[in-house]
Amino acid sequence: MITSIKNAFSVKGLKVLITGGTQGLGKAMADAFCEDGAQVSFIGRNDKKGAEVEAEIRAKYPGCKIKYYQGDIVKPGDPQRLVDLIAEEMGGINVLINNAGCTRFFDSMDAVENDFKDWQDVIDLDLTGYFKMASLTARHMKKQGWGSIINITSNAADIVNLPQRMVSYSSAKAGANRMTKMLAHEWAPYKIRVNAIAPGYTDSDLTPVEGPEFEKLKAFWTEHTPTGRWGKPIEVAAMAVYLASDASEQVTGAVFTIDGGYSLAN
Ligand SMILES: NC(=O)c1ccc[n+]([C@@H]2O[C@H](COP(=O)([O-])OP(=O)(O)OC[C@H]3O[C@@H](n4cnc5c(N)ncnc54)[C@H](OP(=O)(O)O)[C@@H]3O)[C@@H](O)[C@H]2O)c1
Repeated sequence: MITSIKNAFSVKGLKVLITGGTQGLGKAMADAFCEDGAQVSFIGRNDKKGAEVEAEIRAKYPGCKIKYYQGDIVKPGDPQRLVDLIAEEMGGINVLINNAGCTRFFDSMDAVENDFKDWQDVIDLDLTGYFKMASLTARHMKKQGWGSIINITSNAADIVNLPQRMVSYSSAKAGANRMTKMLAHEWAPYKIRVNAIAPGYTDSDLTPVEGPEFEKLKAFWTEHTPTGRWGKPIEVAAMAVYLASDASEQVTGAVFTIDGGYSLAN
């Protein structure tokens, strides 16, 4: 329990596992935790990008402990293999950040077999994947006597993000927000806190719309954001650092929206 603000927000020495750290928000969170002295393991499927991110962050913060692990959250057996290997190599896991996500777009009224597969792909990663990683990691946290789990969801859990047709994404993210609250309640006796961060449009490689339409739509979304700009990945990372630190010890089952106020009037 904190008694002073000095060091209350520190994550120094914490053992942090991030899914999907090879780019975007996951990479920014890996960077932020390393900058503050945590030990970071991150998962991705792309070995080249994984090695590059690992080398880039290590060069930026000499002496920091960061390691890339190849794996696919939706591949049967991979979550168990990854969690056990990483827990063994780091000597435990204090913080899990469920971040690896994907989205698909299709017209729900005319959905065909391929769209049903897209639906399943999103649910498998953004909802079932989050649950599997949380459950498998919580067992290690239970043995340790504490832990913090942070689910990266989306403001799309609560609003219709026009003009995208992304029923599977919104449904998965809404499910992950509810799952956050269920697990927070179930695991509080083990001192495992579970919270979610729900970003809005954030500069990253996950482009909500492909092609030339993007710049036009980006201008539309920016205009409808009260703060007048998109979020930065480091701003999501700052909230993750808070939720991992002792400063948030009394916070569990909460969903923090970071969208510059976009969802207030949309
Ligand atoms: N960017 C936004 O505007 C925004 C807004 C709201 C919410 N979010 C949420 O924030 C999270 C991160 O978004 P982002 O923008 O950083 O996405 P991104 O740029 O597409 O990055 C996704 C990361 O997940 C990894 N990944 C994808 N599928 C995976 C799998 N099956 N197994 C393991 N790793 C996998 C990717 O690495 P590999 O390719 O190497 O596997 C990549 O590192 C997502 O959950 C997203 O829904 C983003």
